[in-house]
Amino acid sequence: MLILGIESSCDETAAAVVADGSSLLSNVIASQIDVHTRFGGVVPEIASRKHIEVIIQVIEDALDDAGVTLDDIDGIAGTRGPGLIGSLLVGLSVAKSMAFARGIPFVGVNHIEAHITAIFLTEQRPAFPFVALVVSGGHTNIYQVDGFGSFRILGQTRDDAAGEAFDKGAKMLGLGYPGGIVIDRLSKGGNASYVQFPRSMKGSLDFSFSGLKTALLYYIKKRETPVSDDELPHIAASYQDAIVDVLVDKTLQAAEGLSLPRVVIAGGVAANSRLRELFQERAGKRGVDVFIPPPVLCTDNAAMIATVGYHRLQRGDSDALNMNAISRWPLDCPEGV
Ligand code: KG4
Ligand code: ZN
Repeated sequence: MLILGIESSCDETAAAVVADGSSLLSNVIASQIDVHTRFGGVVPEIASRKHIEVIIQVIEDALDDAGVTLDDIDGIAGTRGPGLIGSLLVGLSVAKSMAFARGIPFVGVNHIEAHITAIFLTEQRPAFPFVALVVSGGHTNIYQVDGFGSFRILGQTRDDAAGEAFDKGAKMLGLGYPGGIVIDRLSKGGNASYVQFPRSMKGSLDFSFSGLKTALLYYIKKRETPVSDDELPHIAASYQDAIVDVLVDKTLQAAEGLSLPRVVIAGGVAANSRLRELFQERAGKRGVDVFIPPPVLCTDNAAMIATVGYHRLQRGDSDALNMNAISRWPLDCPEGV
């Protein structure tokens, strides 16, 4: 079964063709980073206009790269939410229109579910049940996953998401946007013990990153001299470690609490090299297997959307064409909030 996936929830316009929910035939991603960089973050109105400009070309490229035509596609999956409403509407409207025109089924997909399901596009597929950590620009959640489409929330952030903590920290350090990847690269030459940043909410499975952000702000402001270029890698590495340390700890704590020796790490922050390293190191010691997709399947893409679409269609489950986008849509809340 060939599914065309379409994703436009934030600042990436993406389309992909996936066979049988597991075999990636194409994965096209048009990033808008260059457009938003000068504003220091994503500008929603500009994002939706850019999606409109490129989405048809992105879909054509995805079909071409896969060596198929629309006649070969069995179903279309589009991101329904959560995300920026104007951006979501572009991809969802195109997905519904194409499904209507071709007379094939349409599935409106939850973006968080898709991040978790991305692991099934790799060779390394976990058995159910497992614990999943979803860490992105908008989410920091831990779930118990019992099967496709079956989730129970175990912990979540009380304030900022981990990706937001990376992006805001990078902005304070004058490193530009998006900050996660810059901090990741810069930290490679740094000493993570240089600054002792706080780790909050120890013992709980919930997260809080606002105190860490404030700690960085005070660290920069209270100094007598500005941060020098030589110090930057050390400060970045210390800040990065404060984020990844709690992510790894709480996820493994959840796995241990449930006696589930499998964890899946998903979402844009899962591309972070220190997070990947620390998970392998600490999980190995505790007898837990860690499953992390390659970085290109961690950040936003449409292959993960197509994979959820496939599993929904396999269960005989598709959506009506009058389905609307929803900006806030927790996984355990079928119609959003
Ligand atoms: O999943 P994603 O692409 O979009 C959302 O659904 O939010 O995640 C984007 C987030 C951004 O905050 C970005 O800074 C972060 O993922 N990110 C990283 C890395 N690559 C992307 N954070 C840390 N290290 C990275 N290598
Ligand atoms: Zn995402």
